[in-house]
Order: sequence, then C-alpha cells, then structure tokens
Amino acid sequence: MEDQWSRWGLDLHLRPAAGHGLRAGLEHALREAVRSGRLPAGTRLPSSRTLARDLGIARGTVTQALDQLVAEGYLESKPRSGIRVAPQPAAPPEEAGPPPHATLPPVRGIDLRSGFPDLSAFPRREWLAATRHVMQTAPNAALGYRDRAGVIELRQALAAYLGRARGVITTPAHIVVCAGYAHALRLVCHILDRGTLAFENPAEPDYPALAEHLGHRASRIPVDHDGLIAGHLTDEGAAVVTPAHQYPLGVTLSPARRVELISWARRSGAYVVEDDYDGEFRYDRQPVGALQGMAPDRVVYVGTTSKTIAPGLRLAWLVLPTGLLAPLAEKTRWDESSVSVIDQLVLARLIQTGDLDRHVRRCRIRYRRRRDLLGEAVARQLPHARLSGIAAGLHAVLRLPGEAGQEAPLLARLADRGIHVEGLSPFYHRPEQSPLAIVVGYATPAEHAYRSALTALVEALRERVQS
Ligand SMILES: Cc1ncc(COP(=O)(O)O)c(C=O)c1O
Repeated sequence: MEDQWSRWGLDLHLRPAAGHGLRAGLEHALREAVRSGRLPAGTRLPSSRTLARDLGIARGTVTQALDQLVAEGYLESKPRSGIRVAPQPAAPPEEAGPPPHATLPPVRGIDLRSGFPDLSAFPRREWLAATRHVMQTAPNAALGYRDRAGVIELRQALAAYLGRARGVITTPAHIVVCAGYAHALRLVCHILDRGTLAFENPAEPDYPALAEHLGHRASRIPVDHDGLIAGHLTDEGAAVVTPAHQYPLGVTLSPARRVELISWARRSGAYVVEDDYDGEFRYDRQPVGALQGMAPDRVVYVGTTSKTIAPGLRLAWLVLPTGLLAPLAEKTRWDESSVSVIDQLVLARLIQTGDLDRHVRRCRIRYRRRRDLLGEAVARQLPHARLSGIAAGLHAVLRLPGEAGQEAPLLARLADRGIHVEGLSPFYHRPEQSPLAIVVGYATPAEHAYRSALTALVEALRERVQS
C-alpha cells in the first residue's frame, strides 16, 4: 500500500486544524477534504501507519479518526481494499438557484435531528414480498381510478389496526388516506370554517404556518408537564394536539387534561385534531391509547407511516367524526389523495399479514435500547444536563445550563464537528422564551453508527461545559 501510495504521487495535503486536539483536528481536516470534493469518492487513503508517520502523530490517534469518519459515512472500509473515500451526496450546481423545498434535507456527518426513524431499518424484504403479492393478485380494475378517500382494502386494514394498536374507534367509511400529516392538516383546514385553530406552544412551526396560509388564525396554547393547558382554550374552532408524546417536549397529555380538552370541545362545538405521529413507540409501559377513543364524534385522528416505516412513503390517514364526512366530500373535492394505489395496497397487505406489527415491535426494542444508552451517557457524563420526554417516541429533549441566546453558537459548534441536532427554541412561538436545550433524534442514525454518534455528541457537550 505504501509503495502504491508513493507511486501514485498522491498527497493528502492534510493540515490537522489547530486548536482541535490531534484526533479532532485530523477528523476535521479529512471531513473538509471530502466535503469540498478535494478527495473524490473512491480515493484510496494511505495506511494508518503511513499517515501517522507523515503527520507525525500516534497511529492509534489516526485509527480512531478514520473509524469515526467511516461511521459518519465520509470513508468506507472494505476487506482487502483498505479505506477509501465513500460516495457523497452530489452538491447542487452553483447556478441552480434556491434549493428545491425539502422539509429535512439530508446532511452529511452525524445526523441526530428529530423527525426520522432509522431508515436503514426499512422493512425492505417484507415490502418486496407484499408488493409481489399485490402484483400477482390485484385485478386490473384495482389499478384504475379508486375512491378519493383511499382504497377500501387499506381503509379496512387501518380500521382494524388502529382499533387494536391505538384504541381508535372507527369504520373504513370514516378513514381518508392522505399523503402525510401536512396533507391531512390541509384537508382539515379546508373542512373547518375559517376561524382560529389552537396549536401547542412549543410545536412544529410549519403547522400553524400552514393554517395561517389557508386563511385561519392560529392561537398558541402553552404546554406544561401535563401537556396542553386546556384551560387556556377559548373560542377556537379546533385545537391541534400531540397527546401521546408532545412534539417537541415529549410529555404525555394527562388523564385530567384529556377530560378537560374533550369537555371544552363538546361545550363549544369545537374539534380536537389528534396528531398521533409516534404513538406506536412507548417504552416503559403500555401504549397510551388515542384520545379519539374517548370522543370519536369530536376528535379528528391523524396517523402516519413516517415514524413506523419511512417519511418518504408519504402515507398517512385521517379518521373523521361522522359530522365532518359531508363537509369533507363537499370542500375537498379537488384535493384528491396523492398516494399511489399500489403503495396503499402494499401497506394494506403489510398490515393484514402482521408484518407491520412485527416491524414496529422490532423497532421499539431497538429505539428503547438507544434511548437507554442516551440516558446512561447523560447521567454519567453530563450531570448538569437534564433529559426529558424519554417515555416514548423517537426523540428526547436535553436541557443544558445556560440561556436560549447560547443555542445558536452551541449548534454551530456542534455542526462544525459534523454533529447535526436541532435547538428547542424554533419550536416556541417566541423563541427567546425557550430554555437552552437541544432536541436529540436518537432514532435517526443507522444502527451501526448510533454509539459513535452518541459518544461524539456527549464529548462535544462535555467540552462545552468544561470550557
Ligand atoms: C409533530 C409531527 N407531526 C406529524 C409528523 C409527520 O408528518 P408527515 O406524516 O407529513 O411525515 C411529524 C414529522 O416529523 C411531526 O413532527
């Protein structure tokens, strides 16, 4: 390898950045070289021994840095062919103008942003088997224009699944298949008369923005350790909530607040929109059933495959109270479901065979282990930090000593090390009212990369506390 290296006349031109420590400096220099395209995909690196000698640093330090970059996807290590630069996502051409809209565009490095399941866990084999079954058995007519509410096979499967897994009381006639939660919310906004929609504070900011875009007003209702403070609701036409695992704080809506919220809706003729985005993932006790089961006549339930399978499917569902079925037919005539009939039939098959349940069970075990590792690492190494929202879901909130104003420099510092997480403040209507915290999406990395991602995050946060 050494001979080849010198014969090719390659020179990495690595200058480990000053002030980072030797290992971090080498990682930084290599990351930059790959990111900038200076070391293109396929470039073979010299042996760790050669690198260590050329750079004048210990071989162990070089090996650790290379392992880290393999875990982050910058390098790849193959038996008998050494370490090479891994293929990288293509950079958009300079003249391309603003990038196309993507909710959470891919990032390079350690991705601990919330909003993703582990995409490497996609049930490819089961999806393929279900697709084969659909292609072998679906009559030609099944592939034509189908019911705008979604194919009946999927709505039947969902009615049974939601009753069993989430305590939702419904029939196929009340279910509408949608292309993701935002599509479901858009339909709800069309159905409800213009007026005010209440949103949790903090919440995903895109959703109140969507309601406002569609002509509604958005009020912001604070959340405490029992979830939405229902007593703050007044004359809103609907309240949009995340009862199973508040997004982003992670608290569960308490039984007393559930009663209070439903009483408010009944009293004022309003609706509750239940965003059950990660309700399948609860770790320490039985899943908390959907709010919808308490009041199917007042609650619009929304579920999605974005956390159980993958957001790229764009497959979600609305469960509507009977009173909203006629307004739906009338007011959403032009907003048809944009989910492929084939994908709908495949999901129906996945539910019917029990493959979806088995997949969710496997993921639940995987994510609980990751959550436990995160909890242990924080308890051991970040005694001043406080982790919350860990009973369920795919993310947790890590509060840090300091103030909201320190969030941006902290995130920049983490990003500089290739660690991508979100701060808590953008989820607040008034970001300055946020405590200093980061939202850790512990499901996001691939299984093999999780431990090193966690170590990198904790080390970077420790250094912050010590500096
Ligand atoms: C609060 C919340 N609701 C719903 C969703 C699911 O959205 P979709 O089904 O559009 O992927 C997400 C995704 O991150 C979310 O954060």
